[in-house]
Amino acid sequence: MAASVRIAPSILSADFARLGAEVEAISKAGADLIHVDVMDGHFVPNITIGPPIVKALKPHAKKPLDVHLMISPADPFVEAFAEAGADGITVHPEAGPHIHRTLQFIRSLGKRPGIALNPGTPVDHIDCVLDLVDLVLIMTVNPGFGGQAFLTSQLKKIEAAANRIAKTGRDIALEVDGGITPRTAKQAISAGANVLVAGTAVFKGGAGSYAANIAALRG
Ligand code: DX5
Ligand code: ZN
Repeated sequence: MAASVRIAPSILSADFARLGAEVEAISKAGADLIHVDVMDGHFVPNITIGPPIVKALKPHAKKPLDVHLMISPADPFVEAFAEAGADGITVHPEAGPHIHRTLQFIRSLGKRPGIALNPGTPVDHIDCVLDLVDLVLIMTVNPGFGGQAFLTSQLKKIEAAANRIAKTGRDIALEVDGGITPRTAKQAISAGANVLVAGTAVFKGGAGSYAANIAALRG
């Protein structure tokens, strides 16, 4: 099981003054995806990265860019992130009135659509759109900041999402984001997660530690 787990370092915890080099370093260190946390100071209480930075990073990323939009509304910016080089684009159902349409739009741009559920959002929100997505993201912290503690209350939701995904027979990734450490990674994997986002746990100790940090999350 652990062999099929993919690690998606969140560049939120990288050195922003050296983002290109940081992305290259985590790619070499064994990252499977590069997780890009986009925040608008409105949907979440923090501001981070926009399409020009994704575009600048693209040539440095040898791995797919997993873009997590924590912005509202998301629709007006989806195309810009697609053009900037996002490979997957994940949105929150609360970020706009028409999650179904947003996911269709992401697919129409040739990108992999994902749906993200906040800790307070019920798992049923994926039921009517599972046929449209390639990824379900379960937030295990409230979005906005790195370095928060993993909410074990979300393990049941990971299990519930895994069951729903299994029933589709489709290859839909189940990603977990927030507070992932070697200990919580095990819990998330046992619950059915197969993509782990980690910021703090990957970037601690500097570039010399990235490979060991990533390996430690695979269990
Ligand atoms: C939270 C972000 C996460 C976060 C993960 O809003 O979506 O990707 O940066 O960071 P850690 O691993 O430090 O919890
Ligand atoms: Zn994220």
